[in-house]
Amino acid sequence: MNLPITREKAIEVLKSQNPEEFDFIHYLMSEAVMREVALKLGEDQGYYGVLGLLHDVDWTLTKKDVKTHLTLAPEILKSMGFDSEFIENVLSHGYGFEELPELKDKVRTKKIEWALAASETLTGLVYAYALMRGKKISDMELKGLKKKFKDKAFAAGCSRDIITEIEKTGLTLDELLECGINGIKKIKSEIGLE
Ligand SMILES: [Fe+2]
Repeated sequence: MNLPITREKAIEVLKSQNPEEFDFIHYLMSEAVMREVALKLGEDQGYYGVLGLLHDVDWTLTKKDVKTHLTLAPEILKSMGFDSEFIENVLSHGYGFEELPELKDKVRTKKIEWALAASETLTGLVYAYALMRGKKISDMELKGLKKKFKDKAFAAGCSRDIITEIEKTGLTLDELLECGINGIKKIKSEIGLE
């Protein structure tokens, strides 16, 4: 699939908004997990990766007023040269959110949409677990992460229902959790983990 800009350019655009450190970490983790998921699904890693990287492209600009999240994304992405399909893929991670008037009544129907929503939500769980383990991810195992997944009080903001949407793509929850660990391990030094 064709992308109108390079990953480097996408990073540049995100950085030019002066994102908070954790938000930028979230973008990098979402990219990393999406790349692993694409590999497992036999899909385009470059496309899935950039979609993960840019899924919250207007977050820094809208976070003060959450109900406006994803209202600026279409224009920003259009100006970067992305097509309407990419833009809809980005918007789909906001489907079903009560806070987002334009998107709350929509439902995800495509593999790439379930993959994005599940992957970006999982990043919060993996990161919180890594912090709990003294920022260590290099020896994180599936078994431990599964326990944290089942403990609904842990990183309670990470919707277990959305993470479970991965099953609609044909991957199992375990496979996604492994993608989460493996993907984020690969970028650990960039995001302050070890
Ligand atoms: Fe996100």
